[in-house]
Amino acid sequence: MKKGTTHLINLKVNGDNRGSLIALEENSSVVPFFVKRVYYIYGTLPDVVRGKHAHKTLKQVLVCVSGACDIECFDGQHRQTITLNNPSQGLYLEGLIWREMKNFTPDCVLMVLASDHYNEADYIRDYTEFLKENFSNW
Ligand code: TYD
Repeated sequence: MKKGTTHLINLKVNGDNRGSLIALEENSSVVPFFVKRVYYIYGTLPDVVRGKHAHKTLKQVLVCVSGACDIECFDGQHRQTITLNNPSQGLYLEGLIWREMKNFTPDCVLMVLASDHYNEADYIRDYTEFLKENFSNW
């Protein structure tokens, strides 16, 4: 399975005296895949931790369009916590990344662009299995 990569993307803001507008286009340098699904997470209760899984093949771009949350990412070697608190930033996730989303503010809306339809078979929800898959990559 593909080694995990994460990177933050600065999205182009079209701003004027009316406010701001950001456009995301599929198959672009910002969203390097065809978007088959968009979903968003909101109304998350305090102290909730979401995610706790990795994906086998899915590519995603996460944008916190309102509020803030933390995305903890572990590629099997390095752990990092990325705070998304700005709608002009996107977090690209590809390959084997164990991710946990936490510290959602009450107004947080986390939008996710995904390269494929929802498919439970693409999930690795067992942490030991994630470590095993990852180990076989190094
Ligand atoms: P879940 O995987 O628990 O979300 P998270 O990764 O944020 O912790 O998904 C919650 C429920 O929503 C679960 O029943 C599966 C369903 N779901 C869909 O039907 N389609 C989707 O695209 C996603 C991401 C989840």
